[in-house]
Amino acid sequence: MLFKNKNITRMLAVVVLVMGAMMPVAHADDDEGRQPAVTNAKWVAECSACHFAYPPRMLPAESWRAIMAGLDKHFGSNASLDAADANEITVFLEKNADTRKKSHESSGKPLLRITETRWFKSEHREVAARTWKLPKVKSPANCAACHTKAESGDFNEDNVKIPK
Ligand code: HEC
Ligand code: HEC
Repeated sequence: MLFKNKNITRMLAVVVLVMGAMMPVAHADDDEGRQPAVTNAKWVAECSACHFAYPPRMLPAESWRAIMAGLDKHFGSNASLDAADANEITVFLEKNADTRKKSHESSGKPLLRITETRWFKSEHREVAARTWKLPKVKSPANCAACHTKAESGDFNEDNVKIPK
């Protein structure tokens, strides 16, 4: 796992903030690929250190709360934050969370993975099993491998390019 240099992370935070401000406000339709990008500097700095910062609208508030409450044991990593940062990020994630779907779905517990949600499986049902295992993809959680504009919050199908 490669930790990005803090300065690069900060620069990225600024770029993402500026891009967020320039994004046109999308129509509030049901298409996740076309929703406006929201951002928060702490979230970008802390949650894009190991992977790209998954947009808040990809999970319901309950899932974000559970993820933020378990950062010390985060998918085999320790992603702990001090209480003030964790709180600011939790508020940001909850405020912009997915409000359309229940987080429990069937298990009764909030899902901790976007890739386990029903909508994710449905949007990706045409992706072949071997595609997920390509060296340049490795994991379904590696959104930016195929969504070329994921970093700016754009998941529009027109910007999907499966690597070779
Ligand atoms: C120390 C490294 C590290 C940091 C920092 C980190 N994560 Fe993660 N995160 C991981 C790893 C490792 C995975 C598992 C990736 C995989 O399965 O391919 C993961 C996975 C996730 C997933 C599930 C992706 C999916 O759908 O499968 C979410 C959601 C997530 N992280 C949110 C966050 C949030 C929010 C923050 C900031 C508070 C954060 N992460 C910071 C290492 C980190
Ligand atoms: C292996 C490549 C790949 C990876 C990795 C991947 N996706 Fe996708 N994604 C696709 C494809 C292909 C589609 C379907 C595009 C279409 O409908 O033509 C899609 C569709 C979507 C859509 C619907 C877009 C629309 O315009 O309707 C969303 C939202 C989305 N993906 C989010 C994610 C997120 C979030 C992640 C990471 C957690 C992710 N994807 C990881 C390939 C990928």
